[in-house]
Amino acid sequence: MAERIQLHDLHFKPYLSEAQIQARIRELGQEIAADYQDKKPLFIGILNGAFMFTADLARACHFDADFAFVRLKSYEGTSSSGEVITMIGLKAPVEGRYLILVEDIIDTGRTLHTFLPQLQAQNPASVRIAALLSKPEARVKPLEADYTGFEIPNKFVVGYGLDYNELGRNLPAIYQLED
Ligand code: XMP
Ligand code: MG
Repeated sequence: MAERIQLHDLHFKPYLSEAQIQARIRELGQEIAADYQDKKPLFIGILNGAFMFTADLARACHFDADFAFVRLKSYEGTSSSGEVITMIGLKAPVEGRYLILVEDIIDTGRTLHTFLPQLQAQNPASVRIAALLSKPEARVKPLEADYTGFEIPNKFVVGYGLDYNELGRNLPAIYQLED
């Protein structure tokens, strides 16, 4: 069993193991394949948090697809700042494309609530959301993923792309802040 860890001043306990995460991503890949097999979707990974999930989901989706990334920022420390900033915009044309936004976690919902209209304005064929994690209790904006890995309680988590002030992103498992 994995050990509790310390990042900066905070302690975290093991929450989702590498094996649990990878097994769930394989299932998501199959679900997405059933819907997108012949559509050559464009996956849009949201950096930085979703870099690992996007890479593993890509390997679980055994069909033709394109990949692009945007960088949005809304978090400072362990709470959402409420403001969403686009650090790197989308370069790929999305008109007529089947888009799948790939997020590490949907928390308040503000990030995607801000970003979705920007994409819709460019007339894609469709937009769906794949999120590894979702905290339904934390939602401020009405927004749900179409493909969700795990619904989790409203507690801060790190690992597998998610950071606490830039530490923890490279952990292969997910850890939860201790009470
Ligand atoms: P919103 O609130 O816009 O949040 O849905 C989305 C972004 O906030 C980050 N986030 C977290 N990062 N542990 C983290 O390390 C968390 O528990 C957490 N909750 C939200 C994340 O970047 C996500 O894309
Ligand atoms: Mg993120």
